[in-house]
Amino acid sequence: MPVRVWEFESPPGYKQLTLMERITIVESPIEDAVAVNRTVTEFESPYNTVHFNQRIFGKPHLILVGQVNEVSAGYLVSYEDRHYPSSFYVWMAGVNSKFRKKGVLKAMMQYQENWAKEKGYKKLVLKTRNSRREMLSYLIAHGYNFVEVIPKEKIEDTEILAEKIIE
Ligand SMILES: CC(C)(COP(=O)(O)OP(=O)(O)OC[C@H]1O[C@@H](n2cnc3c(N)ncnc32)[C@H](O)[C@@H]1OP(=O)(O)O)[C@@H](O)C(=O)NCCC(=O)NCCS
Repeated sequence: MPVRVWEFESPPGYKQLTLMERITIVESPIEDAVAVNRTVTEFESPYNTVHFNQRIFGKPHLILVGQVNEVSAGYLVSYEDRHYPSSFYVWMAGVNSKFRKKGVLKAMMQYQENWAKEKGYKKLVLKTRNSRREMLSYLIAHGYNFVEVIPKEKIEDTEILAEKIIE
């Protein structure tokens, strides 16, 4: 499996990554992503391996696990979705709360962006919800535009479609 190490730059006063910690991004089997997904407490009824496999079946996809000192901390699953031409769709992402604010999401997203660019995709696309405040902060801070709001019964469940041009 190819491994790329993210060179981490830590702005003073924010990151909790210590000098001894190192983030590594690993292209992984789906079971590893499913295992990390179970540790993300916000996802109350975590999808099982069958559900993950159904999503990616027959589609070009990327499954990443972000590790802190070789311990699995976060995951990201993306695939090519026919609804979003020339784009790579980020379906699921999460980081175990023990490892948050260390840059694990940022490292996985950067890895994915480089990977998708190399494959010729023009955009990254993802959907999140009003309740996912950290993800919304990430999207605003890292070059995404909000392109559609999809109302749901509860305002916190309302979905936001976002995209980033990567060409
Ligand atoms: C969203 C989530 C994946 C972020 O993971 P993380 O590894 O802690 O994020 P990072 O440390 O890489 O932070 C990346 C960016 O996200 C934003 N961010 C992350 N946590 C934040 C917080 N608590 N407050 C404000 N901004 C935050 C910042 O913009 C940060 O960039 P910066 O370092 O340049 O300031 C994590 O909070 C999580 O798993 N949440 C629950 C599940 C979820 O919402 N998944 C996304 C569903 S679409």
